[in-house]
Amino acid sequence: MTIDLKLENGKLLIEDQLVPAEIGIDNGSIIKISRIVHEHADERVDLKGNIVLPGLVDVHVHLRDFKLSYKETLETGTMALAAGGVTCAVDMPNTLPPVNSYRTLVKRIDEAKGRLHVNVLFSAFPSKRDILKLVTLTYFFKIDFSRTYFLDFNPYNERELSEVFSKVSSETIVVAFHAEDTRETGGSWPMKASAETSAVKYILNWLVKFMNQHDGALKAHICHVTLPSTVKLILENKRKLKNLTMEVTPHHLLLSKRHLGKFKSVAKVTPPLRSSHTRRRLLRYFSKGLIDIVASDHAPHALTEKAEDVTKAPPGIAGAETMLPLLLNLVNKGVISLSLVKRVLHDAPCKLLGLKHDIYEGSRAHLTIVDMKARWKIRGEDLYSMSKLTPFEGVTVKGIPSITIVNGMIVMRDRVVYENVKPGEVINEWRRKDTVS
Ligand code: NCD
Repeated sequence: MTIDLKLENGKLLIEDQLVPAEIGIDNGSIIKISRIVHEHADERVDLKGNIVLPGLVDVHVHLRDFKLSYKETLETGTMALAAGGVTCAVDMPNTLPPVNSYRTLVKRIDEAKGRLHVNVLFSAFPSKRDILKLVTLTYFFKIDFSRTYFLDFNPYNERELSEVFSKVSSETIVVAFHAEDTRETGGSWPMKASAETSAVKYILNWLVKFMNQHDGALKAHICHVTLPSTVKLILENKRKLKNLTMEVTPHHLLLSKRHLGKFKSVAKVTPPLRSSHTRRRLLRYFSKGLIDIVASDHAPHALTEKAEDVTKAPPGIAGAETMLPLLLNLVNKGVISLSLVKRVLHDAPCKLLGLKHDIYEGSRAHLTIVDMKARWKIRGEDLYSMSKLTPFEGVTVKGIPSITIVNGMIVMRDRVVYENVKPGEVINEWRRKDTVS
């Protein structure tokens, strides 16, 4: 038998141990994992001792497209993800037009077919009017407490919030919260730390009541936490709320206000970068394994927009390509373990999304292969994202993704993303099929 692809001379990470292994892939799936795979293969790749991780998942990206294609397209955004070793991502709904109706979500899904380098789940803003139809196409909803105008209800009104979700409450539905309370400090950037604290308190308080009434249904996910106190608050509430997770971004772990001074608009982001003291404590919490997920919050903007003064430029950092290298660099520095990287970029995201990306015979071949010895100097101009800007400009990292495999196909090798290889699937389609059958 001749199979499609054989990965030779690799290492698998199994419970903190690196185990030599070869992987045989055929028809998009892993068919053999063994010390030596004897089958002949059309293509053989010598991994030279590189480590094979299950395909990594980024639960927070803004792929733009639609009328914001001048910032990023589905093609360039998913190329950036592939370059960063990400095999699957959740797209955020603050597009133009926003994905806050069934019609727009259908359009988003239909337009994505055949254009994706990695798998994508398209999320939506919940809508009082369309919620029952939206759940036939997505199970990931976003509520942005700093931009409530995307919604057709007031999320600061507990009754209205409960009304929307009581119609669809189920343990497969994820609600992701951007927790910055505009009532606290007004909506202008940068919102104070107290805006995060206030929103998180409001959300947790609502969740406890809602979950009690609805038997623990819904998965609640707090996006981009920036304060150690927020982490503590969420950890305390995990006892009461079983499906509660939080995410942190690499920029909040590694950059502080000081970088805003240096990189100006390029480092402008929401929530804003905090003091170096806060950042260091957040990193300590993360390195202790207290934060569930790392996500990039990849939020690209055009060069001309970011050339504006920091007060006028739009907030957002294009982080899809730098997330994994920055974490691998922390592994090489001894700050975190590779197992933690796998936990925060694979295990917990997959659990949140209900995905099976583990490496086993019979699984779909979504793989992220990393070279822990290679160095890479981060330069905006080398990014696949249309936004050629990064506040990590000039930083040299040790440890990079060397190959990204999606649905059995190599989409990136040695930092080259194959423009014509687009095996990415729209995850929403799986749900559509499930609903139809
Ligand atoms: C996001 C974007 O640009 O879409 N920007 C960001 O700084 N995170 C939107 C947002 O969440 O503010």
